[in-house]
Amino acid sequence: MIKEHHNMLLLLLLLLLLLLSLQHVQGQPLTPGYTCTNTNTTINTTFPCTTYLYYRPTPPNFLDLANISDMFNIGRPTIAQSSNLSSSLSLSTPLSPNTSLFIPITCSCNTISNSTSNSISSYSSSNFTYKIKPGDTFYLVSTQNFQNLTNYMAVEVFNPTLIPENLDVGVDVIFPLFCKCPTEAQLRNGVRFFVTYVFQPNDTLPSVAEKFGADLGGVVSTNGANISVYETIFLPMSRLPNISQPVVVPTNGSTNSGGNTNSSGGGGGDDDDGRKRVVIGLGVVVGVLGVVLVGVVLWVCCRGGVGLERERERERDENVRRFDGGKKGLSSAAAAAEEMSLMADVSDCLDKYRVFGIEEVKEATGGFDSSCLIHGSVFKGFIGGECYAIKRMKWNAYEELKILQKVNHGNLVKLEGFSVDPDDGNCYLVYEYVENGSLDAWLHGDRPSKKKLDWKTRLRIGIDVANALQYIHEHTRPTVVHKDVKSSNILLDGNMRAKLANFGLARSGCNAITMHIVGTQGYIAPEYLIDGVVTTKMDVFAFGVVLLELVSGREAIDEEGRVLWSDIDIVLNGTDGEKNEKVKGWMDETLLREDLTIDGVMNVMAVALACLQKDPSRRPNMVEVVYTLCKTNDLYSDFSEDGLSVTTVSAR
Ligand SMILES: *[C@@H]1O[C@H](CO)[C@@H](O)[C@H](O)[C@H]1NC(C)=O
Ligand SMILES: *[C@@H]1O[C@H](CO)[C@@H](O)[C@H](O)[C@H]1NC(C)=O
Ligand SMILES: *[C@@H]1O[C@H](CO)[C@@H](O)[C@H](O)[C@H]1NC(C)=O
Ligand SMILES: *[C@@H]1O[C@H](CO)[C@@H](O)[C@H](O)[C@H]1NC(C)=O
Ligand SMILES: *[C@@H]1O[C@H](CO)[C@@H](O)[C@H](O)[C@H]1NC(C)=O
Ligand SMILES: *[C@@H]1O[C@H](CO)[C@@H](O)[C@H](O)[C@H]1NC(C)=O
Ligand SMILES: *[C@@H]1O[C@H](CO)[C@@H](O)[C@H](O)[C@H]1NC(C)=O
Ligand SMILES: *[C@@H]1O[C@H](CO)[C@@H](O)[C@H](O)[C@H]1NC(C)=O
Ligand SMILES: *[C@@H]1O[C@H](CO)[C@@H](O)[C@H](O)[C@H]1NC(C)=O
Ligand SMILES: *[C@@H]1O[C@H](CO)[C@@H](O)[C@H](O)[C@H]1NC(C)=O
Ligand SMILES: *[C@@H]1O[C@H](CO)[C@@H](O)[C@H](O)[C@H]1NC(C)=O
Ligand SMILES: *[C@@H]1O[C@H](CO)[C@@H](O)[C@H](O)[C@H]1NC(C)=O
Repeated sequence: MIKEHHNMLLLLLLLLLLLLSLQHVQGQPLTPGYTCTNTNTTINTTFPCTTYLYYRPTPPNFLDLANISDMFNIGRPTIAQSSNLSSSLSLSTPLSPNTSLFIPITCSCNTISNSTSNSISSYSSSNFTYKIKPGDTFYLVSTQNFQNLTNYMAVEVFNPTLIPENLDVGVDVIFPLFCKCPTEAQLRNGVRFFVTYVFQPNDTLPSVAEKFGADLGGVVSTNGANISVYETIFLPMSRLPNISQPVVVPTNGSTNSGGNTNSSGGGGGDDDDGRKRVVIGLGVVVGVLGVVLVGVVLWVCCRGGVGLERERERERDENVRRFDGGKKGLSSAAAAAEEMSLMADVSDCLDKYRVFGIEEVKEATGGFDSSCLIHGSVFKGFIGGECYAIKRMKWNAYEELKILQKVNHGNLVKLEGFSVDPDDGNCYLVYEYVENGSLDAWLHGDRPSKKKLDWKTRLRIGIDVANALQYIHEHTRPTVVHKDVKSSNILLDGNMRAKLANFGLARSGCNAITMHIVGTQGYIAPEYLIDGVVTTKMDVFAFGVVLLELVSGREAIDEEGRVLWSDIDIVLNGTDGEKNEKVKGWMDETLLREDLTIDGVMNVMAVALACLQKDPSRRPNMVEVVYTLCKTNDLYSDFSEDGLSVTTVSAR
């Protein structure tokens, strides 16, 4: 009898222990995830699918959209768009913890084999790779960084080779975030995707359904009615909810762009008199204090932005800040320090460049007379008997100055100096004049008097531009990305050697993500359009388009808006013989009249094809491009005599 009681007690104790342990892992589903079947069954679910994760910005590290976008390896514009952020805040300010983020992900059915038990399981999830930092564990990263959108058990299953108790710092761990794809029946009922949501302490299913505008019946039938706190649930949705995001008051830091997010409709350049007065005031001081203050005016007028292009400017501000080490919400002391260092930078420019008087510039261009216009906002003018190209910039010339200050290469258009107009805040950059104009005009312009470029010249132009890009990608720190490589930015000098111009959009640094797409249709790399990811590989892509223009004589984008690079798959398709014929039919007919071997053309086409790979990581770098193009050059050894290697690297 007593013994039986004893057993009963033990059993109770065990049960209690079990309950306690359940309590401990409350919220984490006691499974490594949600199973799925990839194969045909009666329930037809198509994998992969696009779904969304619901994510809350959390202090201290994840109030910064840049951090969040890095963690999910997705561009900020994409998150901002799916979360309706653009309207309510400038993306450089920290997010409010109340912001609702919808992170688009691709949900797959991942099959994991377990060698110990010789079994196979499939889990529906989206893989994210995370680099372990000191102090991280599977549990901490899944409950904090990923906010319980996965659990440690799932992470263990997906990383069978890693020992959870002994993680090396820097090791890549796959975090499978839970997700679900709709079945055929659900699709028929108007469910287009499931939002993965982590149940919060004060949530009820009706409150969650209401918040997201999801159908309560659907929510319950998908997840059951008993949901524990921090459990992952799936909300069947037909579209993203209308969430209005909390408005964040920009902090007092250095954000000079904070207050005027909605004035971009203003258009013209003179919509804020206050700023103009500041500029004029400073302009008067210039006369008294001389050269150093020109730098200040330059900084104020260009950086402060007069009217136009405010968007671009905000983007630039943001980038500058990221490259300075990603500090957000700079304190005013730090902001002041930043300003000081920027001014120091500009005075570096002052040492290096000639500062032209505004009267000199005006006189040289006949008061910016249209007869002196080269194109756009670039004028031709003589100062002291020398011919220059003078570019008027309404916006931040500082970036271009800073970049041109670092670069010095025979295939880059040289900056001679600059000038500032204190009356209207315009900046003028004064460049060497490159007499034969742009490649674009030579290839596509209707100038019957000019003779057409022959193949050797075209090849050499290609190599010159490749050399210029190789130089800015490989020999500048941080790396400069031109961002706007195109035939109209390639200028030809008296010897028909090419020089790359226009660093107005260029950026220092790699892997930045920009908010607003800049660049030119027909040359923009697909990944940049989608995610705004800036890498040197976007220049490689644009260079591939320039090669196609050189071979075909066609424009990068035709009247119907069709891009030239889409031709490459059609032209380079079939057997070698077929390809040769197709390329002959496609290339510039003036080249056909020359007696050239098709091999050289095919070599250039092969380089273009490699540069135009949709996956940026498969594109070659410019070192490889230069190397391969120069091998083409060998086929025409007769023009290497003018010392290609000497002239292209000639310093000034
Ligand atoms: C189902 O499997 C068959 C062959 O095994 C395949 O032809 C068919 O496309 C599959 N259907 C779906 C919906 O996956
Ligand atoms: C699944 O798909 C198959 C073929 O695509 C179809 O015949 C079957 O009716 C579907 N089953 C359900 C439950 O929708
Ligand atoms: C997030 O950003 C802050 C600075 O803004 C940085 O200190 C922190 O390391 C970042 N966190 C992650 C996880 O990248
Ligand atoms: C978040 O939202 C709740 C309710 O909408 C509000 O009471 C709270 O003050 C907000 N918190 C912040 C930091 O904005
Ligand atoms: C995740 O769940 C754990 C308990 O399972 C909880 O302590 C933690 O606060 C949750 N994290 C978030 C971000 O809600
Ligand atoms: C593999 O199966 C064994 C036995 O079922 C189990 O103990 C182990 O946790 C499984 N491993 C993984 C990584 O799922
Ligand atoms: C996700 O990770 C698992 C485990 O490493 C792998 O088997 C699976 O192929 C991955 N899925 C995708 C879509 O990359
Ligand atoms: C949950 O609700 C209770 C009362 O309804 C409130 O006191 C508590 O602060 C709330 N907790 C959270 C995390 O919102
Ligand atoms: C499910 O909910 C019912 C009533 O709401 C409750 O009695 C029951 O204990 C719950 N079950 C679990 C496993 O939490
Ligand atoms: C976006 O947010 C604004 C308020 O910030 C709101 O008026 C608008 O309806 C929202 N749009 C969508 C599509 O959710
Ligand atoms: C969301 O906003 C759109 C217009 O932006 C409107 O047509 C739709 O009815 C709104 N939906 C909800 C659930 O508020
Ligand atoms: C922000 O600026 C206002 C006025 O410009 C000032 O009163 C306030 O103290 C500042 N706040 C901080 C945190 O600097």
